[in-house]
Amino acid sequence: MHCLNVELGERSYPIVIGSQLLGDPQYLLPYIRGKQVCVVTNETVAPLYLERLLDGLAGFGQVDTLVLPDGEAFKTLDTLERIFDCLLEKRHNRGTTLIALGGGVIGDMTGFAAACYQRGVDFVQIPTTLLAQVDSSVGGKTGVNHPLGKNMIGAFYQPRVVLADMDTLSTLPDRELSAGIAEVIKYGLICDAPFFSWLEEHMPKLTARDPRALAYAVDRCCRDKAAVVAEDERESGRRAILNFGHTFGHAIEAVQGYGNWLHGEAVAAGMVMAAELSRIRGAIDGEVVARIRALLAAAQLPQESPGGMTVGDYLEAMAVDKKVLDGRLRLVLLRSLGDAHISDDTPREQLEEALKICGAG
Ligand SMILES: NC(=O)c1ccc[n+]([C@@H]2O[C@H](COP(=O)([O-])OP(=O)(O)OC[C@H]3O[C@@H](n4cnc5c(N)ncnc54)[C@H](O)[C@@H]3O)[C@@H](O)[C@H]2O)c1
Ligand SMILES: [Zn+2]
Repeated sequence: MHCLNVELGERSYPIVIGSQLLGDPQYLLPYIRGKQVCVVTNETVAPLYLERLLDGLAGFGQVDTLVLPDGEAFKTLDTLERIFDCLLEKRHNRGTTLIALGGGVIGDMTGFAAACYQRGVDFVQIPTTLLAQVDSSVGGKTGVNHPLGKNMIGAFYQPRVVLADMDTLSTLPDRELSAGIAEVIKYGLICDAPFFSWLEEHMPKLTARDPRALAYAVDRCCRDKAAVVAEDERESGRRAILNFGHTFGHAIEAVQGYGNWLHGEAVAAGMVMAAELSRIRGAIDGEVVARIRALLAAAQLPQESPGGMTVGDYLEAMAVDKKVLDGRLRLVLLRSLGDAHISDDTPREQLEEALKICGAG
C-alpha cells in the first residue's frame, strides 16, 4: 500500500494506492464526517464494483446510490441536475459526502456536484480507470462539458481523500489501459526522467497489469502531479506543462470527432508531435525522440497523426485551443527529456515541419 499527501494547505488530502481498498471501511470511513453518503457511479462500473463498495459501508447511516448512463456524452449540466435531484429527494444535508466511483467522467462530474450542492459538501474520489488514477482524480479540477466546449463549466474543488484500488484495473478494456499509460508516460517526459527510464524497463509489466508495477507507476505519477499542482493550483503558470502533447491531441480529437480516438491515444500522437518540434527547435536530439516513440509503441499507442488529417486541419483546430493567449500559440515543449517548459515563440514553419514528420498531409 502506498500513501501520499497532496499539499494544498487546509485543502490537503491523502491519496491511498493499493489492492483491496474498495470495501475496506478503514480507508473510507475516517474521511466521512456526517451520517449521509451518496455514491455516484455509472451503468458499466456499478455491476462490477458497487456492491463491494457498499459492503464496506454496511452499518453506516444513510447510503444512497445514483447510477448514471456511461459516456462523455453524459458529462453535462443535465446529468448534474440528476445528481442534485437525487440529493434533494433523499434529503441530503450540508454534512453529506458524495463518493465518485468510476473513471474521469464520473469523478469530474461528481466533484463539481459536490462543489455546488448547498455551496459545497465533502467528496471522495474512487477512480477506477488508470487515467483517473494518475490524472483526473488528482489536482481538483472538476466540471462538465458545454455544447460549445469541453470542460467549460466547472470549479477547482479538492476531495477529502482519493482511494486508487489497483484491483479495479483488471476489468478495464485494453485500449482504456493504454490510453491511461499515455498520461503515465507524459509525467516521465515533462518532469521525471528517471521514471521514463523505469517505464522503458517495466512497460511489459504494466501492459500485463502487474499490480505491483501498476501501483508503483500510479504512486509516482500522483507524486509528480501533486508536486506540480502544489506549486500552481489554479494553473497560472507551471501547471500548464501537464498539457504536454494536449494541444495537438485536442486538435486530433476535435477534427476526428470525440469518441473516435480515445483521449490518451490522441495525446500519445500529440506528444510525438511536441517531441519532434522540440527536436527541430534544437532542444533534444533524434535519439530521444526515438526512445519516446519506442515506449509509446510498447504501450500499443499511436505515434503518428490519424490518416486524412492535414497540416491545415491542425493549424485551424489549434487556433481555437483554449491555451491560445493573446493570439500567440502557447505550446508545451521539452528542454530535455524530463524537463518541459511553455513556449510562445514557435515559428509556423517549424510547427508545420513537425506535423508533416508525424504524417499530417
Ligand atoms: N479533472 C482533471 O484534471 C482531468 C484530467 C484528465 C481527464 N479528465 C476528464 O476525464 C475524463 C476521461 O476519463 P476516463 O478516461 O477515465 O474516461 P471514462 O470515465 O469515460 O471511463 C472510460 C470507460 O471505462 C469504463 N470504466 C471505468 N472504470 C472501469 C473499470 N474498472 N472496468 C471496466 N470499465 C471501466 C467507463 O464506464 C467508461 O466506459 C474526460 O471527461 C476528461 O475531461 C479530467
Ligand atoms: Zn490528458
